[in-house]
Amino acid sequence: MAEPYYITTAISYPNGRPHIGHAYEAIAADAIARFQRQTGRAVRFQTGTDEHGLKMVQTARDRGVEVRALADEMSSHFKAMCDALHISYDRFIRTTDADHHAASQALWQRMADAGDLYLDRYEGWYSVRDEAFYDEKELVGGEEGVRLSPQGTPVEWTAEETWFFRLSRYQQPLLDLYATNPDFIRPESRRNEVMRFVEGGLSDLSVSRTSFDWGVAVPGSPGHVMYVWVDALTNYLTGAGYPGDMPHWPADLHLIGKDIVRFHAVYWPAFLMSAGLPLPKSVFGHGFLLHRGEKMSKSLGNVVDPLDLAEAFGVDALRYFLLREVSFGSDGSYSAEAIVTRVNAELANAFGNLAQRTLSFIAKNLDGAMPEAGRAEGADGALIEEVVVACAGLKAAFGDLMLSQGVEAWLRGVFACNAYIDAQAPWSLRKTDPERMHAVLRTLVRAIRMLAIAILPVVPGSAGKVLDQLGADARNHDAIDDDGWYDRQAASGFRIAPPTPVFPRLDLPAEA
Ligand code: MSP
Repeated sequence: MAEPYYITTAISYPNGRPHIGHAYEAIAADAIARFQRQTGRAVRFQTGTDEHGLKMVQTARDRGVEVRALADEMSSHFKAMCDALHISYDRFIRTTDADHHAASQALWQRMADAGDLYLDRYEGWYSVRDEAFYDEKELVGGEEGVRLSPQGTPVEWTAEETWFFRLSRYQQPLLDLYATNPDFIRPESRRNEVMRFVEGGLSDLSVSRTSFDWGVAVPGSPGHVMYVWVDALTNYLTGAGYPGDMPHWPADLHLIGKDIVRFHAVYWPAFLMSAGLPLPKSVFGHGFLLHRGEKMSKSLGNVVDPLDLAEAFGVDALRYFLLREVSFGSDGSYSAEAIVTRVNAELANAFGNLAQRTLSFIAKNLDGAMPEAGRAEGADGALIEEVVVACAGLKAAFGDLMLSQGVEAWLRGVFACNAYIDAQAPWSLRKTDPERMHAVLRTLVRAIRMLAIAILPVVPGSAGKVLDQLGADARNHDAIDDDGWYDRQAASGFRIAPPTPVFPRLDLPAEA
């Protein structure tokens, strides 16, 4: 039985359309999911929308629509975005799904049975934008003395009867968790932030609301709906089959943005400890994507629809750029110029040309027949060795969530191929030394196949086409080291058809 691997993204608020930050998270999670599948893990990958809470209620009211209609419409845009970006999710969960209500109520009951829920009056600050309660001491001053949440969002005074969760009980168990599992929160900077927060003391958490009814009903407590983060976090269990069998639980990785680490690294493990359920293995808080170094916001008018970018540049170009450009965990910036420059230099020129020139030369000059062994030289084995090392470097880095470093390792293999072509000049050997030409082309075909397999998680569509052009079916990581592939393929009589270019050069759109 393959070892399970369960990866999730945050579930997004469908109070508006998806933006490039949402796309970034989905693409990163997809690359990790595809990579883990390639290494033979039984992957389950979940994403979706977080549809309850006051923010949804208020947005619907402002737009004059029913909240369910807003959720239905916007959730469908998130799903369409995932499909357009080739996000290979197993389930797109909506927190309005019936099984999710049942799972949330089951978890609630377990926390109640543990004696961790009690009814009291909550008085304090709430940010609707963050859907978060804040202590007085956390607030910061905005313009004209207006108080804001630490995220810079408006807060309002709230007073109502609510259920409380005894979070204070879990301070020490949480600190022990962070101490014994250094990888529970990554990257390290976020881990330090969370530890400082928990060391500062934890107040009990208000976990139900009575002022609106758009949410999961609290079992046995008419008039109360769960605080949106309680049901939102539970989505990870719902998707794993809770309260039934959960072959994929605990999750291996919750991939989320840095703004919501506290919910995942403090509240979530505390809820699970209370319910007596195993804890996720790791929470990774990625950085924020900025536009030309600035935060994206409606007022700055720099919010970009990810589908427009995918349309302008291509899905794989966008995926490649985001994973290559941004050091995973840090903030990163994008602009049309940066996408065009990066993609042209590395995908179109370096890898695309390598594949296109090699395959079309074979199609044209060898009638598509796989080159023969010819006369090998030391440089051939040396190149293959460099490519093996590059692919292994990608594998090690991706296994450690160092995505941009993984792509860099891969590029070293691509550059080595280009240096080899320059040195061996196979095109000019056709007349002077066909034996040697065969050996060089054979080496290149082997290298291109390995590099295409390794980069599949990043650019699945285009790397898949290169592999199709080579008739290479096996696409797991193990296949990279299959030294016998070439000779079997040649013996099968496979012929390379004149290829169409897979990685087009991009032009800067006129309005950029
Ligand atoms: N609904 C909550 C998450 C609940 S998870 C149980 C939420 N939704 S969100 O729509 O605001 O954000 C969804 C994800 O997108 C979060 O991980 C968030 O950090 C991420 N991003 C939102 N803006 C972003 C950028 N500009 N850049 C990168 N990621 C960003 O929070």
